[in-house]
Amino acid sequence: PGLRRLVVVSNRLPAALKNEGGEWTVKPGAGGLVTALAPVLRDRGGIWIGWSGASDPTVDVDGLLGSFSAKAGYELRTVQLTEEEVRGYYFGFSNEVIWPLFHDLQTRCHFDPGYWRTYLDVNFKFAEQVARHTGKEDYVWVHDYHLMHQAFFLKSMGVKRNTGFFLHIPFPTPDIFMKLPWRWKIIQALIEFDMVGFQTTQDRDNFVRCVRHFIPECTTEGDGAVVTVRTGSREFRAGAFPISIDFNQFANLATREDIVQKTFKLREALKHRKIILGVDRLDYTKGIPERILAIRTLLKRFPELTGRVNFVQVAVPSREDVEEYKDLRDEIDLLVGRVNGEFSFPGWVPVHYHYRNLQREDLVAYYAAADIALVTPLRDGMNLVAKEYCACNASESGVLILSEFAGAAAQMQDYAYLVNPYDLEGVARAVNRAFHWDKVDRRRMMVGLRDHVRSHNIFWWVDSFLQASFSTNLGDFPPV
Ligand code: UDP
Ligand code: G6P
Repeated sequence: PGLRRLVVVSNRLPAALKNEGGEWTVKPGAGGLVTALAPVLRDRGGIWIGWSGASDPTVDVDGLLGSFSAKAGYELRTVQLTEEEVRGYYFGFSNEVIWPLFHDLQTRCHFDPGYWRTYLDVNFKFAEQVARHTGKEDYVWVHDYHLMHQAFFLKSMGVKRNTGFFLHIPFPTPDIFMKLPWRWKIIQALIEFDMVGFQTTQDRDNFVRCVRHFIPECTTEGDGAVVTVRTGSREFRAGAFPISIDFNQFANLATREDIVQKTFKLREALKHRKIILGVDRLDYTKGIPERILAIRTLLKRFPELTGRVNFVQVAVPSREDVEEYKDLRDEIDLLVGRVNGEFSFPGWVPVHYHYRNLQREDLVAYYAAADIALVTPLRDGMNLVAKEYCACNASESGVLILSEFAGAAAQMQDYAYLVNPYDLEGVARAVNRAFHWDKVDRRRMMVGLRDHVRSHNIFWWVDSFLQASFSTNLGDFPPV
């Protein structure tokens, strides 16, 4: 087979247009999908197709994104969406239906039939662009829940492509998935891909169980990370591929002279105090209010830590047009104020709260400065913050406290301190223990974590996905 070009298709691009005060500017995309995929495209080249971010048809999208694309070393192709499409497909179906449901938070779902129709229309629009910008030899790799109908629509147009899908978020158990009014349509669409990838074997198994619910005669072959599924009319693969980060990029930044200086300054500002760090998009799946309450519990249960710790929470603005996200922001503002009001004294404020998207350099300095990372999502596909913290912990003295409901827990459980994010007392006890942990134990744990993330980095991930997709009848994916 000829050289296959990699075509990544996702809603979010590494850079998107944003209207600020009436002017369109290029902004870096936030979130795990972009962090993970950007090094893959940089390394292999190819095309990345996604939403431009602008809904104004008069905007010069190519002009604005052109210089980003030239610097990045791969092509960006954009899909233009109207405001109404963005409302129904992105804010509506993706963020008010699939996102909460797949994170087991069904009470936050709005099953609006209008959202579903717009989701289908936009998926068709994306598929048209994919067909236009790709050829038969290309490998079309679709990412995440916004675009589950790509293979289905490509086939309905008679366009033949090798296709793969990777879900960055969890796949729920059948009892939760079955609440979705369009459940069968989603399964029908997903089984049209040649490979369907998930973060953990648990997610993969949940998916296969849902397929079996609708197609009882479906069989699976294999018992490793990847299985072949046969449904009668379809044969495809389903696998578990825990996503990761460009370990070296983060590790090298953490030891770069200017960032070492930044880290030093942070430590100086919070001298004689241990830094407990939380970094998340401002999202209700991340358990930020629960985490602040766990810090409150810590200070109440272990008053000797008063004045000796600082909890630094970075919350990155996200999906600000969705009501639930606005409410969450208010709730967090209130809680931070309340806890600080309760415990502060002259010269010490327990919670430092930053509501902004940080530059990579500043983020790395925070990671490197933190003694404890408190990563406690209520549910998370993987959680790359946990991995980034380890990569940046050059001193090998930090402790990772990790939610057992993050996909990362399946890989990191031997060396992280696992907690139930709903158990405020349990999280407080974990932080207290981490505070007192001796250096030798901390180093042993952090070395274990770093070794794991170093070897299971983003390039390992992409190779395992592509090798599993092309291992037999499809020929080998050429290394670039
Ligand atoms: N991140 C960011 N801006 C920030 C802080 C963090 O873009 O100010 C990145 C962070 O480096 C990480 C991603 O956001 O790669 C969060 O990924 P994660 O998998 O933890 O959660 P997601 O946001 O994808 O749900
Ligand atoms: C998660 C999702 C991604 C998404 C990211 C940021 O990581 O899996 O698909 O891009 O959150 O969210 P946003 O809605 O801003 O793209």
